Amino acid sequence: MNTEENKAALQLLAKEAAGCVRCRLHEGRTNVVFGEGNPEADLMFIGEGPGQHEDEQGLPFVGRSGELLSSLLEAVGLSRSQVYIANVVKCRPPGNRDPRQDEIDECKGYLAEQIRLVDPAVVITLGNFSTKLLLKTEVGITRMRGQAYPWWGRHVVPTFHPAAALRGRSQVVEQMQADIELALSVIANRQPEQAELF
Ligand code: URA
Repeated sequence: MNTEENKAALQLLAKEAAGCVRCRLHEGRTNVVFGEGNPEADLMFIGEGPGQHEDEQGLPFVGRSGELLSSLLEAVGLSRSQVYIANVVKCRPPGNRDPRQDEIDECKGYLAEQIRLVDPAVVITLGNFSTKLLLKTEVGITRMRGQAYPWWGRHVVPTFHPAAALRGRSQVVEQMQADIELALSVIANRQPEQAELF
């Protein structure tokens, strides 16, 4: 499939998701938060699920976690519009509770299609939910982070969720920064014919 077809398919998928009633999360949502960014990005971020600000605006990572993510990107010379950002579940869990397995199961098809259509070289999973979903692991993020895992012809680089950094230690921010740099080095070291950045 060519890129124009991919972009059109991504838009169609967003439209489909906007009317989704597959799980109970649709009952409390203001907006579906499908995802945003460069539909041809080499680097994709996957968080957990929308919070209050994301639900209100229909955009991922626009609250405090998003500010931190943007500043981590700026530190390596990237803007949000150069990457693609999505979540495991597209509707806000009530009271910001964790998404439940049945909700993740109903929603994960959208994410799988987003990854296939954007076709990034590296996916950075933010926190335990996206890391466990993609890498099918029960190992926690503290042990998983710091490495690039080959995954269906691309790589997954797990890192902390920005909320973990907001909760505490400055070391978490440094480790997240190191993980983003690792992801960029994986992208830069691809085969020459694949190595055109963004
Ligand atoms: N936390 C997430 O996991 N995703 C968002 O979009 C915002 C906060």
